[in-house]
Amino acid sequence: SEVFLNGSFIEASQARISPMDRGFLFADGIYEVIPVFNGVLFRAEQHLRRLERSLDGLQIPSPHSVPEWMELCRELVRRNGGGELSLYMQVTRGAPDKRDHPFPYPVVPPTVFMSATSITRSPTHDPDAALGFAAITLDDIRWGRCDIKSVSLLPNVLAKQQAYAMGAAEAILIRDGLVTEGASTNVFLIKDGRIGTPPRSTRILNGITRELIIELCDRHRIALVEREIAKAELYDADEIWISSSTKDITPIVSVDTRKIGHGVPGELWKSFARRFVDYKL
Ligand code: PDD
Repeated sequence: SEVFLNGSFIEASQARISPMDRGFLFADGIYEVIPVFNGVLFRAEQHLRRLERSLDGLQIPSPHSVPEWMELCRELVRRNGGGELSLYMQVTRGAPDKRDHPFPYPVVPPTVFMSATSITRSPTHDPDAALGFAAITLDDIRWGRCDIKSVSLLPNVLAKQQAYAMGAAEAILIRDGLVTEGASTNVFLIKDGRIGTPPRSTRILNGITRELIIELCDRHRIALVEREIAKAELYDADEIWISSSTKDITPIVSVDTRKIGHGVPGELWKSFARRFVDYKL
């Protein structure tokens, strides 16, 4: 496959980055993941605007304008044959000569890396055949700016690994007794036909898929409120969904080994999954 690195499209096996890169030494960088369906970048504008916000949050000057980013993304998709892809983009504060905490002075150019890998179809494509997944809850031990899509993902990695080790697909993170989000997803809770999801804040990543779900609920007059969700509400939910760009909306059928609803993907999820896929394709 081909990747984009610092101005050039090259074979992935040829890509080289300095060990002095601040992404490597300090996790001093940000990333984005844009899904590609049928060769078309999905909601790229929104992802690129979030990329710019993340760069702003780290005070890294954006090396490209949004139209330039868009063209680079399209070119990478073309070079990787289109289809269903996950387009990964990362920008770090670059590779100065010396390891030192403050921003490098004189300034060095940021490192820009983009790749495209294939994604597996999400259960939304065949809702009747979907089995649903298990989740566990864990303390949210992350920093106070989870709205920035930083590559500093150690707490997310450890949480996800703990979930996998327990046979679960996701860890739902809890801060001060409240649900924030999953290790790599946003969380939705359905009770008595009403959908709830934690409000936008610096405690969560404002997912592009999350925004789309809110938009689709609005359009189809499905009741959704952005509200705080207590950990205890999880066990008592009729349905729980998690969302992300690469997995669409996935039903969670158990939390901490306790059955959610009837322990199978719920009816609201099935009908919403169809609407979601109709919209997307
Ligand atoms: N993760 N919350 C976190 C912590 C995430 O890492 C992600 C996405 C989301 C969902 O955001 P979106 O709908 O914009 O994908 C929420 C990406 C896919 C990843 O890290 O691979």
